Amino acid sequence: MSNRRSVILGTGSALPPRRVTNHELAERVDTTHEWIVERTGIEARHIAGDGETTATLATEAARNALAAAGVSPDQVGLIVLATATPDQIFPASATRVQSALGIDDCIAFDVAAVCTGFLYALSVADNMLKGGMADYALVIGSETFSRILDWEDRTTCVLFGDGAGAVVLKAEESTERGVLVTRLHADGRHNNLLYVDGGVSTTGTVGKLRMKGKEVFRHAVVNLAAVLNEVLAATGHLAGDLDWVVPHQANKRILDATAKKLGLDPARVVVTVDQHANTSAASVPLALDTAVRDGRIKRGDLIVLEAMGGGFTWGAALVRY
Ligand code: UT7
Repeated sequence: MSNRRSVILGTGSALPPRRVTNHELAERVDTTHEWIVERTGIEARHIAGDGETTATLATEAARNALAAAGVSPDQVGLIVLATATPDQIFPASATRVQSALGIDDCIAFDVAAVCTGFLYALSVADNMLKGGMADYALVIGSETFSRILDWEDRTTCVLFGDGAGAVVLKAEESTERGVLVTRLHADGRHNNLLYVDGGVSTTGTVGKLRMKGKEVFRHAVVNLAAVLNEVLAATGHLAGDLDWVVPHQANKRILDATAKKLGLDPARVVVTVDQHANTSAASVPLALDTAVRDGRIKRGDLIVLEAMGGGFTWGAALVRY
């Protein structure tokens, strides 16, 4: 029987240089640094400037991941880009990344699952690699949520930031390392709790992000705890076996509540929400790259990636790094 597994060879990320602190935001929006920190844990976020787009950030993150992996662009057979803020409705932003990387021919497409986008993209790429469609894949989460925020709405605009994260996967015969299991979910009954009030086929406009934060919060803790238990049960692992939890970075209080519900050591949870805010599909690979580069996550570690977002969608992946 084949033990073809998707191994994470390298990680990379990219942030727009412009960093906006809560204090700076409070000069323009009716809010305070104290409220934002107390309710969310966020201290700053990065905001894309002129010429910086979802595809340019994704390309930079991809280049950094390829360099870390020691893989050249022409080896890449598959690019899956998770985003809810593509450069254009079509073509897929993944093809812009492909051309920027100078790849003449590979499979390239976008996946839309909002904040769970990276988990969906990872799962799709993992199954395509296992199925033999390619040997090397770039899986990217990239967003420019600043472009769909209503800067007059203090209940949402303080929560999000821009950025990108990427991993290079290689299909390898391995029983030891790689993506061990992924689990994905969606429940469209909750479409109206987190959405964009525009679209090509409805208003003909891009629209702005709208969220009923309290209700999203409640669902997030329940769904994330459930899907974390699901990937652990699928592989016979216990929460105590995890070296690192790399969660979607929406709110520090969600990270704390989920860790508590599962009995996870908070010191084992990677937290970047303080510096990046919520970067939607980019947040998990950005947090992963941060913890790999600062030496926390080491080869052989058992890590779990998890996210929850609009749809609702939610999912998790258990990975032996
Ligand atoms: O990535 C997808 C997943 N997204 C999430 O997981 C987000 C989940 N939700 C949350 O993180 C939290 O619900 C929020 C951070 C969005 C809000 O925190 P909360 O503790 O649920 O606050 P709230 O919405 O109940 O608002 C409390 C008060 C309200 O005032 P009143 O009605 O009590 O007078 C708000 O008007 O805080 C007020 N408020 C603010 N005050 C200062 C709301 N936003 C702000 C603000 N600055 N930016």
